[in-house]
Amino acid sequence: MALTVHNMSVKAGKDLKITGVPQINAEGFTINLGQGDENIALHFNVRFNQHGDRRTVVFNSKHAGSWSSEQREKSFPFKEGEEFKVYVSFNKSTFQIKMPGNTVSFPNRFGANKFMFIQVLGDVRIKGFKIS
Ligand code: GAL
Repeated sequence: MALTVHNMSVKAGKDLKITGVPQINAEGFTINLGQGDENIALHFNVRFNQHGDRRTVVFNSKHAGSWSSEQREKSFPFKEGEEFKVYVSFNKSTFQIKMPGNTVSFPNRFGANKFMFIQVLGDVRIKGFKIS
């Protein structure tokens, strides 16, 4: 499933809420926030079994087409077939990503206070999407 939102922005101080259900036998799914395919401030990649990783959450950013350095999380609060809610908020320096059971910070390497590109990709059924 894929969802790309182009003509809507998410601004610093706002909350982006995504409700989804990982598919059975999911390899992985991704939430991207940024300026476009080549410039992604927040790449949030949930890997059930993807890119050589099992049950790992990977964060990164992409700058003019090149990946920067990854941040990996120990906990993996996602289950195939089980609904989850993820909340993303940010300011000019940091993203806060609230997952079931834990909240993670990732640097806002773009330093921007507004992102026009919002994308959800991969093996997930999106049940809700809200910016408030
Ligand atoms: C790569 C993967 C990309 C992205 C990146 C994050 O290995 O192919 O899709 O997840 O890692 O650092």
